[in-house]
Amino acid sequence: MWPAKGGPVAAAAAAAGSGAWLLLVSLLLVAVLLALVVRQLLKQRRPPGFPPGPAGLPLIGNIHALGAEQPHVYMRRQSEIHGQIFSLDLGGISAIVLNGYDAVKECLVHQSEIFADRPSLPLFKKLTNMGGLLNSKYGRGWTEHRKLAVNTFRIFGYGQRSFEHKISEEAMFFLDAIDTYKGRPFDLKHLITNAVSNITNLIIFGERFTYEDTKFQHMIEIFSENIELAASASVFLYNAFPWIGILPFGKHQQLFKNAAEVYDFLHDLIERVSENRKPQSPRHFVDAYLDEMDCNEKDPESTYSRENLIFSVGELIIAGTETTTNVLRWALLFMALYPNIQGQVQKEIELVIDPSKMPTLEEKSKMPYTEAVLHEVLRFCNIVPLGIFHATSKDTVVRGYSIPEGTTVITNLYSVHFDEKYWSNPEVFFPERFLDSNGQFVKKDAFIPFSLGRRHCLGEQLARMEMFLFFTSLLQRFHLCFPHGMIPDLKPRLGMTLQPQPYLICAERR
Ligand code: HEM
Repeated sequence: MWPAKGGPVAAAAAAAGSGAWLLLVSLLLVAVLLALVVRQLLKQRRPPGFPPGPAGLPLIGNIHALGAEQPHVYMRRQSEIHGQIFSLDLGGISAIVLNGYDAVKECLVHQSEIFADRPSLPLFKKLTNMGGLLNSKYGRGWTEHRKLAVNTFRIFGYGQRSFEHKISEEAMFFLDAIDTYKGRPFDLKHLITNAVSNITNLIIFGERFTYEDTKFQHMIEIFSENIELAASASVFLYNAFPWIGILPFGKHQQLFKNAAEVYDFLHDLIERVSENRKPQSPRHFVDAYLDEMDCNEKDPESTYSRENLIFSVGELIIAGTETTTNVLRWALLFMALYPNIQGQVQKEIELVIDPSKMPTLEEKSKMPYTEAVLHEVLRFCNIVPLGIFHATSKDTVVRGYSIPEGTTVITNLYSVHFDEKYWSNPEVFFPERFLDSNGQFVKKDAFIPFSLGRRHCLGEQLARMEMFLFFTSLLQRFHLCFPHGMIPDLKPRLGMTLQPQPYLICAERR
């Protein structure tokens, strides 16, 4: 007699069958996992002739060390052991770190073309598809976008005589807003961010945003949160293991959420400011970009697109705001910390600038001490301590080391500004190092806060104008001090940029 259908034998056979399946699937999974581990370990091997570097852990390489302390400080320390050019393993991503002025110059200037690429890291790919300007690969896309940005910044910005006046106007709004605190303690961050971003906004959108515009402020806030997140160890992990992206939690998810919100905001803003556009009569960067798109409409290789417009606008806003804002925040913190330096700047202001007028750029060359102070802030505070990651576009050789195409290159600008070959007592804040024996301002080769080579900062000129005009007009009107000797912590907050910890300050009318 046949056993009944679904009887105990069939059940046992089914159970044995599913057990075998389970075993097979488990074995397959283990095999795939093993293959992935082997692949990762192979990726982590140093290429032949590659610079030496600190030993890393299996799978994650040196990523853990970057999370443990300030990455730029860690890298400078490692350069004392392994040399000015050493390597790091970012979880299977081969990177070299350039330390000290000579090494950075040798690569970014003497081999400028080879070192002008950006690494194809999963984070950048996901955020901008390697398009836009700042993260763009070295090639036609970058050349077209950089040229357009440089030209537009000149035409609508520092090339216009009236532009200086527009910065002074913004400085007036800024000073009046500070005045409302009537010497009571407050955090300057919010006002400086608004004032500084408005200068870039004038060029990009042809308009400024009021200090009460909470939507614009929120966009800047989450954008700058992304600058902090982008340098976190967990985002380095995402770059090494992009499949982490499927996890519904983690810093990378916050970063993507913020980016999506920023892009939506910029999309709507771009639509609004281009509403009444007259083709070939640009009023600002957005118009100029749309004109270029029109001109290249029939070129299938053209890199101008709506998407790249959003990426470029975002990059210009954040690159211009996050950096200059932090320089000014550090500069004002140091003025309150060192009242004697503040006093000397104010003395120079009184000597050179008519007290009934706003400072002008013409007066800058007559104010060597103020210039020296701003330069020392840029040197000492290292706003962008590791620059923006570069990559090699071809195989090359530096100091006898073989560097393959596609290697990630980290420029430790902090180590350049603390390079003892070029700076004496670099750990001391000492503006006089930028003055000669006659008190005249002197330029220093190893001063490179805007980096070097083809990818050097395109906003340097604009940033210098803003820093001088905002700084001098503020110190002309106010005396700065900390409330009841509440001296802030000088340890910077980590991210792709270094910013001071939040601090309160009193701005008393002079
Ligand atoms: C004190 C203020 C500033 C500092 C310290 C600074 C610093 C830097 C540094 C270190 C880089 C990396 C260069 C490299 O890859 O080697 C950079 C790139 C860049 N900066 Fe600035 N920056 C400042 C202000 C600005 C401003 C005001 C703008 C524009 C509004 C701007 C736009 C850019 C852009 C677009 C790039 C990417 C250039 C490229 O990839 O070709 N920056 N900046």
